[in-house]
Amino acid sequence: MPAGTVRILDPGAGVGILSAAVCQRVLSLPGRRDLEIDAWENDEHLAPFLRRTLEHCRAALEAHGHQIKYTIHRKDFILDNALGAKSLFDGVGGKSSYDVAIMNPPYFKLRKDSDHAPLRFRDLGLQISTGPVVTFRATEHLLRERASREKSAPLLMMHNIRPFATVFPDKPNGKPGHFRVCEASRSLLLPARRYVLLKRFTAKEERRRLVAGVLERSDSYAPFVALENHVNYVYKASGELSRDEAFGLAALFNSALLDRYFRAISGSTQVNATEIRTLPLPGWPEISEIGRRVSVAGCPDLKHIEQAIAHALCLPVDLNSYLAGC
Ligand SMILES: C[S@@+](CC[C@H](N)C(=O)[O-])C[C@H]1O[C@@H](n2cnc3c(N)ncnc32)[C@H](O)[C@@H]1O
Repeated sequence: MPAGTVRILDPGAGVGILSAAVCQRVLSLPGRRDLEIDAWENDEHLAPFLRRTLEHCRAALEAHGHQIKYTIHRKDFILDNALGAKSLFDGVGGKSSYDVAIMNPPYFKLRKDSDHAPLRFRDLGLQISTGPVVTFRATEHLLRERASREKSAPLLMMHNIRPFATVFPDKPNGKPGHFRVCEASRSLLLPARRYVLLKRFTAKEERRRLVAGVLERSDSYAPFVALENHVNYVYKASGELSRDEAFGLAALFNSALLDRYFRAISGSTQVNATEIRTLPLPGWPEISEIGRRVSVAGCPDLKHIEQAIAHALCLPVDLNSYLAGC
């Protein structure tokens, strides 16, 4: 770190943990420094915590003869700097340059007994596909009422997906809720098995960007199910997800941890299979442990999910309490 004035960019500062780490480093170095921190954080709920962290840093640095000036930008860093700046180090925030930029995606602390580094979908033998039924192209197969189990199958859409569950209306509601099973529709049907279902779109006001339900074999009255195109389904390339595995995956998708991560990598409310494939995931032992913990709770609440994940992944306490506020 250079001596004298050090200009620091913290884009996506969260509660300021990385800026605080830099300040702590300054305290361990010889020589006086004047820090100028520009912290961008577009989640307005975090701003008071970010300010508290930076005030704490100020007190610690000033007590040791350093100086610190900080600015919290409660704005979208990317939008705010999209125009005009040639690079991160040239003209961000209308100023000339930075000495240091700090950023960090969320991370999993590995269990001591785990052989696994964070894994991706494919490493776990998982696949994700989009529901094959595009309703306006398959109108001849849409049914408002169910036929016999040989002749129809449930048609599942986004509104059928709830966290950890798949729900069906008890009575016909005037909308097509079933799909004809015949030779011509066969390629649009999936075998009824255990899947994790993910909504492909979420409304802006929804608490989580990812909403994951579990579909059980027994949820379907027929040997098949039809999945509409606004639903992604997750399955194993070979074999079937166990109940613990499916609940563990759904818990991760429904968690604050992955929600934070997903929002950091995706600006849109659309949930693409490609982005899901890049999410870091723990190994099967941890996923199953999470699943065991949440499935005993029936329909677990958010707090229960975060606790199960924090326990299985040994998340640091500060990260966990940060996420608990999300
Ligand atoms: C992955 S967290 C990291 C937080 C912090 N840097 C840390 O390591 O603890 C990313 C943070 O960036 C914020 N963020 C994401 N996109 C942003 C954007 N375009 N502009 C400003 N903040 C953003 C999120 O609200 C979130 O708090």
